[in-house]
Amino acid sequence: MARRPPYASRAPGTLGLAAVLFSQGFGTRRECAARVQAGTVRIDGRICTDPDEPVATDDLVFSVDGREWAFHARALVLLHKPAGYECSMRPRHHPGVLSLLPLPLRQRGVQPVGRLDADTTGLLLLTDDGALLHRLTSPRHEVPKVYEVGTRHPVTPQQLEALRAGVVLDDDPRPARATAAEATGDCALRLTITEGRYHQVKRMLAAVGNRVETLHRSTVGTLALPPDLGPGQWRWVQAGDLERAPSR
Ligand code: URA
Repeated sequence: MARRPPYASRAPGTLGLAAVLFSQGFGTRRECAARVQAGTVRIDGRICTDPDEPVATDDLVFSVDGREWAFHARALVLLHKPAGYECSMRPRHHPGVLSLLPLPLRQRGVQPVGRLDADTTGLLLLTDDGALLHRLTSPRHEVPKVYEVGTRHPVTPQQLEALRAGVVLDDDPRPARATAAEATGDCALRLTITEGRYHQVKRMLAAVGNRVETLHRSTVGTLALPPDLGPGQWRWVQAGDLERAPSR
């Protein structure tokens, strides 16, 4: 039987069911069609077995093998990164952060937005949206990132002043500046930076004669790590949340 190609002229905002699954990372086009035909996909509780069934994607929620999934044209998720995970796409010494996400997200190609060191915890965004990835990581856009830093030695007013004035790191004559730096305890400070240079916070603290013992990112842009999201847990972010949420 001749089959319509998956993206053939449909009403705007609709896709064939197998194409929906494919777009959300549920395997190759062939695998997605087979999943539908096998009766594993439901919409509103109804088993759908026609891979070409037109489906409106706005606010679409479907289930695959009993697991509910909300349609997202572009994926943007927030992960509470635990210590002991690498942000690299090819991790070498620790498991990768992608292993904390469900397979469909990995299969649709989400990537970390910038990197956190393996021992750093906190807010990590991941997306499959190349333009957004660029906007969030480009130094030109100056997206503020807030870190809670635990230090080996007491934090002094001189150190805070030097961090705000800018310190020169060993590989780059341009000073690295904190847009805000405040002590939050004897050996603790809150630091805001807008760049993402290699080991930047650790090297900035070393440049003022201190040493980072613990590092946790609490905020990126307008997004704060939700207090109810435990280490290793993730949740969807709507692109608009990046602008709307309060910064702290
Ligand atoms: N700066 C660092 O030194 N490490 C991180 O993981 C993030 C910022």
